[in-house]
Amino acid sequence: MEFLDLPPLVSARGTVRLPGSKSISNRVLLLAALADGVSEVRDLLASDDTARMLEALQMLGVKVEALGGDAWRVHGCGGDFPVREADLFLGNAGTAFRPLTAALALADGTYRLSGVPRMHERPIGDLVDGLRQLGADIAYLGSEGYPPLQLKPARIRPGGVVRVRGDVSSQFLTGLLMALPLTGVETTVEVVGELISKPYIEITLATMARFGVAVARDGWQRFVVPAGSRYRSPGTIHVEGDASSASYFLALGAIGGGPVRVEGVGRDSIQGDVRFAEALAQMGAIIEMGDNWIECRSPEGGLKGIALDCNHIPDAAMTLATTALFADGPTTLANIASWRVKETDRIAAMAKELRKLGAEVEEGADFIRVLPPPSSLLSPPEGIDTYDDHRIAMCFSLAAFGTALRINDPKCVAKTFPDYFERLASVTEAVPVIAIDGPSASGKGTVAARVAAALGWHYLDSGALYRLTALAARRAGVAWDDEPAVAAIAAKLDVVFAGESIRLAGEEVGQAIRTEEMGIGASQVAALPAVRAALLFRQRLFRRAPGLVGDGRDMGSVIFPDAGTKVFLTASAEVRAERRHKQLIEKGIAATMQPILQDLRERDERDSKRSVAPLRQTADAELLDTSALTIEEAVAKVLAWAKAKV
Ligand code: DC
Repeated sequence: MEFLDLPPLVSARGTVRLPGSKSISNRVLLLAALADGVSEVRDLLASDDTARMLEALQMLGVKVEALGGDAWRVHGCGGDFPVREADLFLGNAGTAFRPLTAALALADGTYRLSGVPRMHERPIGDLVDGLRQLGADIAYLGSEGYPPLQLKPARIRPGGVVRVRGDVSSQFLTGLLMALPLTGVETTVEVVGELISKPYIEITLATMARFGVAVARDGWQRFVVPAGSRYRSPGTIHVEGDASSASYFLALGAIGGGPVRVEGVGRDSIQGDVRFAEALAQMGAIIEMGDNWIECRSPEGGLKGIALDCNHIPDAAMTLATTALFADGPTTLANIASWRVKETDRIAAMAKELRKLGAEVEEGADFIRVLPPPSSLLSPPEGIDTYDDHRIAMCFSLAAFGTALRINDPKCVAKTFPDYFERLASVTEAVPVIAIDGPSASGKGTVAARVAAALGWHYLDSGALYRLTALAARRAGVAWDDEPAVAAIAAKLDVVFAGESIRLAGEEVGQAIRTEEMGIGASQVAALPAVRAALLFRQRLFRRAPGLVGDGRDMGSVIFPDAGTKVFLTASAEVRAERRHKQLIEKGIAATMQPILQDLRERDERDSKRSVAPLRQTADAELLDTSALTIEEAVAKVLAWAKAKV
């Protein structure tokens, strides 16, 4: 499984230009295709969901041209798709599937619409029922009420009243409303049940208006598409920034100090999710807003838990569930039943992953209640699962405040925000790291520990983890070259570091791992890729505020490639052998120079020639040769480099 390890974050500050709104992008593309004339669409979101819509339109014979950047030219077909028979694959894009179903059901062709397995678990029966009232010929190819669908030419009887349920997904109403102008006849849509996600209907109506169709409405119950409606290109149309995507950055500002500013949405937005800012303000965050930007800062006394009806911000509300981890007291998010039929069952997924972080979570059919853990967040070694749901991945990135966090299958963010994690890094600061790598007996352990003490930072002796693995394997009777068995031992090492003391399964082993024999064993097990993989995240968890000094062979190259200060600390083999010899004699262990030198050379060879994470000086590391330096001089040098980087 792919994963991404986020470093523990300490603060957030900066500005993010948002990607285009997914909801607006796919509506604009469809209406531009259905309109008379050519539309130039600017700031379109580049993502999986919009790619599915663009592909589908092209398969239907609509001419779309990429103009470079985020601009596209769409040649409208006046409501009449040139291709009358097509098989459309729409992935997991609800914003493509529902409106295309409606538009194609009223068109005169034979079409098959399908998606990924999860799309086939997301209900569409209410929309099909609505379309059938108009005479549409729609068949379920799998389960009744769910995609895939087969649409056939039919005698459409527009006019009168169509009833559609509004309490499962607002996209059914959106699909119907966007398709009805194709009939040219006045038709009334009546919503049965309470309409959820009302702001998305606002987006639909506003976008239809930009394309020349004004829908009259009576509250949220009756919508009238007037006779003679016809979509006309507005010429050039700009897509607003994505207000749901804005929520992660605003929450970062609320948790991590701020200010964090998002550009592309603001007071003038047609997206309901901008009201997420009000929810953050209710939690105590300080919000400022302009026509086209929103900014958020942490409050003096920290965030407070809230109870909120989230009908008006269904997607952005998910961000509140992870922001709640940093609030004082519980947060209850109500009226979120639609979460259960999204990319995944979002209530269940959210509850499960929040519990992994140590939160106490209560969930119901349409609510979730989050009580943050009493002390710091836990960081599950197996990582946070993302359920092929972009929003779950982005929401949980917030939990990296305070702890390193593994996110599984991070690429699902491509659905709406392909470069999300890069943008996250651009407005956050992580716990600083000084990475000190070098060969055996170069003195890096002593230097690293003293640098850590001087700064008051944490210290990671990564070699000790390999030595502990070798010792634990020996004690379990496992051979050092039995890769799967040694890796299993490494993954489950029951070890506690406390100052000088190291306890393995409760027993003090500080001395036992320092023998030459365990040094050799460590070097052998360290060459096994599965062992290194098993110890990767464990090492990253040592990174805690205010900072970490790590020493080893691959601190700067593999474990902490983003370390602010990297040092390659070495000394000639002879000097190192002498130091080791002196150390052993001081400990009362009999030793002679020659075998020590021989052994060091062999170990250097093995550590630098192995295929995984070999010992090497990275291009961005400072070289520190300590052959002629005292420990104090070496420490001073590292501290000076670190200071210069701050
Ligand atoms: O630094 P040390 O002598 O305690 O390390 C023991 C062995 O562990 C060494 O021969 C190489 C291996 N090691 C490694 O491969 N990667 C690290 N980051 C640290 C140590």
